[in-house]
Amino acid sequence: MRVKSIFSFRASLKNRILFFVFLLIIITAVFISISFLLHTWHAIGFEYYLIILSTYIILVTAYSYVFLSKVFASLEKISNIIEHGEKYKDIYGHLEFEEIKRIYEALESNESRRAKVSRKKDTYIKELEDQHDIKRREIEDMHSQLIQASKLAAIGELAAGIAHELNNPIAGILGYAQFMAEKMKKMADNNDHTALMFCKYTELIANESLRCKKIIHNLLKFSRASELSTSSVNVNVVLADAIDIVQYQGHLINIDFKKRFNEDIPLIKADAAQLQQVFLNMIINALKAIPKSKNGTIEIITECKKDKNSKYIVIKIIDNGCGIPKSNIPKIFNPFFTTRPVGEGTGLGLSVSYGIIKGHNGIIEVESEENVGTKFTITLPIIEG
Ligand SMILES: Nc1ncnc2c1ncn2[C@@H]1O[C@H](COP(=O)(O)OP(=O)(O)OP(=O)(O)O)[C@@H](O)[C@H]1O
Ligand SMILES: [Mg+2]
Repeated sequence: MRVKSIFSFRASLKNRILFFVFLLIIITAVFISISFLLHTWHAIGFEYYLIILSTYIILVTAYSYVFLSKVFASLEKISNIIEHGEKYKDIYGHLEFEEIKRIYEALESNESRRAKVSRKKDTYIKELEDQHDIKRREIEDMHSQLIQASKLAAIGELAAGIAHELNNPIAGILGYAQFMAEKMKKMADNNDHTALMFCKYTELIANESLRCKKIIHNLLKFSRASELSTSSVNVNVVLADAIDIVQYQGHLINIDFKKRFNEDIPLIKADAAQLQQVFLNMIINALKAIPKSKNGTIEIITECKKDKNSKYIVIKIIDNGCGIPKSNIPKIFNPFFTTRPVGEGTGLGLSVSYGIIKGHNGIIEVESEENVGTKFTITLPIIEG
C-alpha cells in the first residue's frame, strides 16, 4: 500500500521529494561508478561536473518551487484542520498531511450534508407537529361536540317523554279553565266581588296553562318530535324577515344591523317558519346581550361552503355584546338554562333552535369572549329543492 502510494498521483509531497532525492543520488552514484570503471575519472573535465551540478540545482529549485507553492496553498487548509480538527488530533495525528487533508475534506462535506439533512429533519418535524396540533384540536372539538350532542339527545328524550305525558292533562286543564272563565263571566253579577274574583282566577289558570302548553310545544320542538313542513326556502329572505321583525327594537337602542348576504346561495329544502324562529331567537339574544350604553352591531352573514362530498349554507350571527362566560358555554343549549332574571326568559330559545337545526341535519356552533362578543354559526346542508 505504502509503495503503491509513492507512485500514485495522490502520493504525499514528502514521499515524492524523498523519492526524487533518492533518484538523484542513484544517478550520481551510477555516473561516478561508470566513470571509475571506464577509467575516465581524471579525463572528465571540471566543467562537466559543473554542468551536472547546475542541472541538479535547477531540478531541485524547480521541484522546491512546486512543492513550496503547494505547501503555501495548503496552509489555509492546515489552519482549518488545526482549528476544527483539534478533537481528531489524537486519532489522526500519525497520518500524512495529504491524508489528513482528504479526511478533513471528507469530514467537511459530511458535516455540510449532515447539517442539510438535520435542517430537513427539523422542518419535517415542525410540519408533523403542526399537523398533529391541528388534528388534536379537531379531535377535541369533535369530542366535545359528541358529548354535547349525546347529552342533549338524552335530555331531549326525557323532555319529549315528559312533554308528551303533560300535553294531554294541560290541554284538559286549559280547556276547562277557559270554559269556566267564560261561564263565570256570563253568570257573575257585577256587584258580586267573590264571583268576579273567581272569574279572574279562572282566567289566570287558563293563561298559565297556555304558558305551560307553549313550553311543552317548545320542548317537543327541541326533541324533534314536531314535524317539519318543508318547502323551497331562500335563507336570505327568511333572515331578512327576521331582521325586519326585530329591527324596530334594535333602532331604539342604537343597534346597527349589518347584512352581508351572499346573493347567490341556492334555495334549500327547509321549514321556513322553524328557521325563522331560530334566527329570531338568536338575533333577540344578541340584542339582549348588548348593553344599552354601547353602540352595538349585529352582523348577519350568509355564505356557501363546500367539502369533498357536500355543499352547505353557513349563517353567522355576530354581536359585540357582553359575551358568554367560558363556564356557561357548555350549558347554553340545555333546556331551561338562562341567565336572565326570573320571568324574563324560559331558557328554551337555544335548545329549541338546536333541535330545529338538528332536524334539518345542520349544526350550530358558538364562539364567545366575555366583553367582546359572541358568534353563532349555523351550517345547513344544501339539499336543493
Ligand atoms: N348572543 C348572546 N350573548 C350573550 N349571551 C347569550 C347570547 N345568546 C345566548 N346567551 C346566553 O345563553 C342563555 C340561553 O339562551 P336561550 O336563548 O336558550 O334562553 P334565554 O334567551 O335566556 O330565554 P328565552 O330564549 O327562552 O327567552 C341566555 O340566558 C344567555 O345567558
Ligand atoms: Mg333566547
